[in-house]
Amino acid sequence: MARGARKVAVIGAGNVGATCAFVLAERKVGEIVLLDIFEGFAKGKALDMSQGGQILNYDGKITGTADYADIAGADVVVVTSGFPRKPGMTREDLIGKNAEIISQVGAGIREHAPDAVVVMVTNPLDLMTYHMQKVTGFPPKRVVGQAGILDSARMTHFIAEAVGCSNEDVQAMVLGGHGDTMVPLPRYTTVGGIPITQLLDEETIDAICKRTAGGGGEIVKLLERGSAFYAPGSAAAIMAESVLNDRKRALPCSAYLTGQYGLDDVYIGVPVVLGSNGVERIIELELEAPELESLQGSANFYKSQLSELLGY
Ligand code: NAI
Ligand code: 2OP
Repeated sequence: MARGARKVAVIGAGNVGATCAFVLAERKVGEIVLLDIFEGFAKGKALDMSQGGQILNYDGKITGTADYADIAGADVVVVTSGFPRKPGMTREDLIGKNAEIISQVGAGIREHAPDAVVVMVTNPLDLMTYHMQKVTGFPPKRVVGQAGILDSARMTHFIAEAVGCSNEDVQAMVLGGHGDTMVPLPRYTTVGGIPITQLLDEETIDAICKRTAGGGGEIVKLLERGSAFYAPGSAAAIMAESVLNDRKRALPCSAYLTGQYGLDDVYIGVPVVLGSNGVERIIELELEAPELESLQGSANFYKSQLSELLGY
């Protein structure tokens, strides 16, 4: 049954968190609470966003806080707190500092929003999502990570540019971990229903897959301070909205596997159905042997990182 109340908490009022909250406000999802370790930062952003309501025609309550008591009753908690990459860093380089932050944040969520669905964004994404599930003790289907929507959107954009068509008509699919091992799937990528293999040559498709896998790093290098946030914040907002409104969108997300794709006890990017209960279904695509090997290779990389770096 769909949940009645509609309240979303966004932890971390930085670039990704504030963008996510802003997109949610524009989509009129209900009450939004922005929580940051720096109270004034969260309060200031919430006030600024509230004042934009008249201009953009939204009117839901948006508040800022540093107190976890204020997230009580949240249906969804989006977690963006943590350090972003600097040029030259991999997402995995962030693990030590961000794992500590996720331990703190997870304790706050467990105590004050015990029924929430948690949408993770903090990097390294697949590892931090696993860590959050362990810290909260929530059922794995109520903890899910954002990566595939962003990675697929990046691939979509590059394809639209190459074909010379609208982003809207491209459906791309990127599975696997949110890092160098991600698995773009050209075979499941279409433009207006037409397989891209009929529209682009192999060399162009390969170059697009490569650019997609390095898509986050490309932006880190350009920005020189921090990492991407417009597309990531929007992607997290779409996941939160699918849960809040029980939309049951079919989206690529980092989900906990229990045997699907020959993998278990790991969070990795796969297509899921996202509704008010969190991950309501994991879709198992028919993969060709090299595609499955790539997905399993990606998952096994994260499994080894979980044990080596986080002691799981
Ligand atoms: P940011 O530095 O702009 O914001 C992070 C915020 O977290 C800051 O406001 C900081 O005060 C807050 N924070 C730190 N420790 C906290 C704590 N213990 N409790 C509450 N708040 C705390 O960084 P940005 O750009 O927003 O990125 C956030 C995270 O999201 C990074 O780890 C980044 O790598 C990741 N990311 C993940 C993506 C994905 O697709 N999964 C895409 C883009 C970023
Ligand atoms: C991104 O892909 C850094 O994970 C972040 O933009």
